[in-house]
Amino acid sequence: MVKNIRNVIIAIDGHSSCGKSTVAKQLAEKLDFIYVDSGAMYRAVTYYCLQNNIISQNRINHQLLIQELEMINIEFIKDQSLDKYLTILNGEIIEEEIRKIKVSEFVSQVSKIREVREKMVNLQREVAKNNSIVMDGRDIGTIVFPNADLKIFMTADTKIRAERRYKELLNKGHKISLEEVERNITERDEIDQSREISPLKKADDAIVLDNSFLNHEEQLSWALKKVSEILANN
Ligand code: DC
Repeated sequence: MVKNIRNVIIAIDGHSSCGKSTVAKQLAEKLDFIYVDSGAMYRAVTYYCLQNNIISQNRINHQLLIQELEMINIEFIKDQSLDKYLTILNGEIIEEEIRKIKVSEFVSQVSKIREVREKMVNLQREVAKNNSIVMDGRDIGTIVFPNADLKIFMTADTKIRAERRYKELLNKGHKISLEEVERNITERDEIDQSREISPLKKADDAIVLDNSFLNHEEQLSWALKKVSEILANN
């Protein structure tokens, strides 16, 4: 474990389904930091919209969403028995629901809305106030924590990403085709990269990790080496 006298922030950004959360969780565990899945926050808002007719007939009612934003309360709790973080929306555990394809289909559209981003960014900064954290997302190193101690930008070949996510969803019992998964990943990347506010892009000082041909152990040791280098120089 790395010992620090101040809070440390590790930002992991990158393309959809390239394993950001796996590396982030592994790092947080090794370093005894808090892991924050910022994508789960945007997914929780999207789930709220689907449940409350803010999304209907494939359209998002922006005005209604903005009006109801203050009613959306998102928290995370660590389930010690499952050893995983669970996303809570207004008191309800929604960890499984937010991973469904219906949420994935709309989440990038919801994430484009300025008011949604403002609320999520405030929440993300709040978590980091009293904790050392590893946070993954799309704009963590560029917008949320431009002074993060370490910034990693992750990517992997699109077909490899789609196959990995497809297997993961199948194992969880979701009914979906490989083509649907690949289409969703490609579409989300396009929307996330081209949106006006906080688009997905590599921060100038981020280090790139392409994990197309790395296994979990290899990517973890790569990331731990970077953490040690950064902390040794600070
Ligand atoms: O990390 P994820 O795939 O669960 O994220 C879901 C979506 O949320 C992603 O397609 C874009 C959005 N997102 C974002 O706009 N900014 C973040 N920091 C994290 C996620």
